[in-house]
Amino acid sequence: ALKDSAKFPVGVALNVGNELGDLADIQESAALIHQQFNSIVAENGMKMRFLHPAINTYDFAAADALVSYARGHGMMMHGHTLIWHHDSQLPDWMKTYQGDWQAMLRDHVQQICRHFAGKLKSWDVVNEAIDNKLPDQYRATLFLDKLGPAYIEQAFIAAHEADPTAVLYYNDFGMEAKAEKLQFMLDMVDDFQRRQIPLHGIGFQMHVSIDSPNIAQIKSALQAVAARGLQVRISEMDVRLNQKQKAATLNPALAQQQKARYREIVSAYLQSVPPAQRGGITFWGLLDKDSWLVESKPYPDWPLLFDDQGQAKPAFWGVLEGL
Ligand code: XIL
Repeated sequence: ALKDSAKFPVGVALNVGNELGDLADIQESAALIHQQFNSIVAENGMKMRFLHPAINTYDFAAADALVSYARGHGMMMHGHTLIWHHDSQLPDWMKTYQGDWQAMLRDHVQQICRHFAGKLKSWDVVNEAIDNKLPDQYRATLFLDKLGPAYIEQAFIAAHEADPTAVLYYNDFGMEAKAEKLQFMLDMVDDFQRRQIPLHGIGFQMHVSIDSPNIAQIKSALQAVAARGLQVRISEMDVRLNQKQKAATLNPALAQQQKARYREIVSAYLQSVPPAQRGGITFWGLLDKDSWLVESKPYPDWPLLFDDQGQAKPAFWGVLEGL
């Protein structure tokens, strides 16, 4: 099993939470989850919209159920995510909020961190704050607009105050693909370290395709973060196969390429990140049919380790070989 081969957390994202369905929806896959993984992330259920639906209302019921499910099965949980600009995950009330933004965001971060203190080992504090098209600047979000880049460090400081033992991550995609984006993130890290802002790790989402970014880029990105003494997670891994070619089936050749790709990235992680800095690897879904990539694209894809029946794909064996 994956969790027995790895000496670090091996996780899966599960899409349960308020409005998203409940634990009954994962019963069918429960045996597979317990057998292979020792860590869980809520794919959506701990995002701003779901935990903080109205200005003075926090709704922890569904997230708490997931936390106790994880505990009951000896799995740890990583929190995702305290601050994320994405329109679909932002509470509607926040989009038109007119009050004191710094106080409001601080309260948001601290209410949530305090609630889960001692239950979640780590948090993605800020997600995707660096622009992807202009990767030498912060992303133009509601938060940047209201508070300038300071909202990022303020979130880390607030989270650390509320839960001093939580390991606090900055999480983003494409930092292994774009040199300028990587450099911008590293500059932020160096600045935070100089000023003792409590940032403890970097999450690389690792939504990749078969051939891009290349493995040398991935390794040097992981190494650059490891060299700064931070924790490193691969936080949302999947390997999409179907770009624009609109293949209708997962043929054996593609499945083997995917296996090799999973293996090379997992072993790059082991080669690049010293054991004490391995925050773990999380896969962004369990079965291919559950993948966000499948839901959001007009053509099929098979990005994950298990097929729709829960059978291990070559990709699964690639990860196991890489570990
Ligand atoms: C995605 C979920 O998988 C989808 O179900 C949802 O509709 C949108 O968000 N980067 C992230 C994740 O940090 O939170 C995103 O998850 C995928 C991209």
